Amino acid sequence: MAEKDFILKNYNKNFVGDKYSWSSPSNIALVKYWGKKEQQIPANPSISFTLDACKTTTTLTCSKKENNTDFSFEIFLDGEKKDDFKPKIQTFFERIEVYVPFLRDYHFIIDTKNTFPHSSGIASSASGMSALALCLMSVEEDVILDGDYSDEYFYKKASFLARLGSGSACRSIEGDLIVWGKHKEIPNSSDLFGVKYPFEVHENFKNYHDTILLVDKGEKQVSSTVGHNLMHDHPYAKQRFAQAHENLSKLVSIFKEGNLKSFIEIVESEALTLHGMMMTSMPYFILMKPNTLEIINKIWRFRQDTDLHICFTLDAGANVHILYPEKEAKEIYEFINNELVVYCQNGHYICDRIGFGAKKIS
Ligand code: DP6
Repeated sequence: MAEKDFILKNYNKNFVGDKYSWSSPSNIALVKYWGKKEQQIPANPSISFTLDACKTTTTLTCSKKENNTDFSFEIFLDGEKKDDFKPKIQTFFERIEVYVPFLRDYHFIIDTKNTFPHSSGIASSASGMSALALCLMSVEEDVILDGDYSDEYFYKKASFLARLGSGSACRSIEGDLIVWGKHKEIPNSSDLFGVKYPFEVHENFKNYHDTILLVDKGEKQVSSTVGHNLMHDHPYAKQRFAQAHENLSKLVSIFKEGNLKSFIEIVESEALTLHGMMMTSMPYFILMKPNTLEIINKIWRFRQDTDLHICFTLDAGANVHILYPEKEAKEIYEFINNELVVYCQNGHYICDRIGFGAKKIS
């Protein structure tokens, strides 16, 4: 499908408005998206586990307004007005208006809450933008007059819109393994939206755990958007983008065979490469903290001593995601609880696991 297939052409201009709620999860990338082109097109394909517990619930109230000159919206987080979120939503609306042309016809109240604390250092853009995109798709469903309106189209367009809010958000609509970005071995993969990973996945990867250690809850010094842009003219960009394609290819047989050792190798290498790209950007920057490294070293030692399949990955921040299979969960959780919690800010961590995507709330 191309961009033009997502343009809503004919819609009911007399619709007065309604209220819609969606809850949408966060996701954790195994092969990382880092670097993008115009219009939120990724420089390389990525794949992620959809999460379950870390999610955003958004209620969108839309009411028909008199003039349709400007976008009109208010945003609330946990009931509190958040004008500092407005520029991001304004940019989102500008990018998606051509696809959802009813945006200027309504006043929108965006009421949102996260299951994780806003100041946890966990990015809320993936869950937040995907929840909002889904609410807007519910509006579209109510105003559309004709056209193909299957569930498949609904979710594809939701992912397409979410991408225009925040790239990784397009991987939060469905679950449990989502690919975003064109890859030669993944049929129907696209730079425009996320698709479900289409091949066999071994039992070892079912119900995979992700315990998120909150090392630093502060605001990041460098935003993802700035970091992505530093991949233009990056001396290692070409190699990095090629490596992401190769790593995704390797994961296909790893998922099929249930090869946890090779999985760990790719996932940890992806995390360190992501941070390697940051450290070799110009200007260069470091988002890891001393405790991020303490945790990584402890994980490596524990893995060597026990042969258990624990590994880490990182987002664009200092927090550590610890990934492990269901069948080893008890021992690994004990290790986390006894030995790693000391490295978390105020001892805070979040127990999550693989999930199956967003849900409409009636
Ligand atoms: C390191 O999706 O937050 O988490 O498209 O600019 O909003 P924008 O960036 P964003 O970048 C996420 C980067 C990452 C890797 C990943 O999730 O694939």
